[in-house]
Amino acid sequence: MAEIMVTGATGFIGSRLVSELLEKKYLVSTLVRDGKHTKEKTNEIVGDVTDSALSFEGRSFDCVFHLASCTPLEKNSAILEKVNLAGTKNLFQAIKNKTKSFIYVSGLGVYGNPGEKIIDESYPHDPDTNFVKIRLEAEKYLREECKKNGIDFAVMYFGDVYGSSGWFNDMLIQRLKKKSFRLPGGGKYLKAFVHVDDAVGSMIAVFEKKAFGESYIVTDSTPVTFKDFVNFTADQINAKHPGNIPNFLAKAVLGSDLITLLTTPLKVSNKKISKIYSFKYPNYKKGILQVISEIKEKN
Ligand SMILES: NC(=O)c1ccc[n+]([C@@H]2O[C@H](COP(=O)([O-])OP(=O)(O)OC[C@H]3O[C@@H](n4cnc5c(N)ncnc54)[C@H](OP(=O)(O)O)[C@@H]3O)[C@@H](O)[C@H]2O)c1
Repeated sequence: MAEIMVTGATGFIGSRLVSELLEKKYLVSTLVRDGKHTKEKTNEIVGDVTDSALSFEGRSFDCVFHLASCTPLEKNSAILEKVNLAGTKNLFQAIKNKTKSFIYVSGLGVYGNPGEKIIDESYPHDPDTNFVKIRLEAEKYLREECKKNGIDFAVMYFGDVYGSSGWFNDMLIQRLKKKSFRLPGGGKYLKAFVHVDDAVGSMIAVFEKKAFGESYIVTDSTPVTFKDFVNFTADQINAKHPGNIPNFLAKAVLGSDLITLLTTPLKVSNKKISKIYSFKYPNYKKGILQVISEIKEKN
């Protein structure tokens, strides 16, 4: 069976990816920081992407799924550059002779603010946040280096990924329950969401179908305003619909990049990924219902 290396395996999407890969009987290795462990048993390599001594000596992988990163909640630009750009380069240099393929995870922020157009992968990148500019530099580096080194490469541009952990639980469900959630700018901007199982499933499909050499927009098929998404979620947990917070105040609390990424309206096409992957949750309503029942089971 193929051997996969997952970075960011202790995170929200990475941990789900690990579970699915194990379920599919892959051999799974993970890069975990000192003191951290994956929920399920994997072949753990202890290390930080920024560590110059990072080594995968004696190992070989069919694919690296690179998810380790700081999120847009990180406001310190030097840390973002260190982890998301220098860390990605460092990881690549350490692993380039050990893997046949490499899948990089990024987000829809690469398209900036395209206005009303429905965009697909051919739309030019035009990032308007420092966070995404750094991620695009890392992507460019990986694309070029993979080409030079004969490594198959693909990049996934995820919409906002929701699931029973990560921001959906920590920042939305928990705050709706405590009545402390507010909608930045009123929430009337169209968003592209994707259930974590589909985020993970689409990545595995790219590997299994050998659909490399491409980039993929990964979102469900049901655009929805953030306000409607949040209110639907609130209804399922019998919480009140939240009030609003002006963007400038939300930026002061959560950082400018995060709020810009959250509040930029976006209409995207998932046609390309849909040719190789069949979404389990093409509609956010079904996805949210599944996630909420999973959260209830956990508690
Ligand atoms: N969640 C979304 O809605 C979304 C949307 C679009 C794209 N993405 C992208 O998907 C990827 C995964 O996101 P996520 O939501 O799963 O993030 P997450 O829950 O914050 O997980 C981040 C992971 O990266 C690891 N990490 C951070 N810094 C590291 C370092 N210096 N060395 C090694 N590992 C490090 C963390 O390890 P520790 O446990 O040790 O901290 C954790 O496992 C990211 O690239 C993110 O930008 C996410």
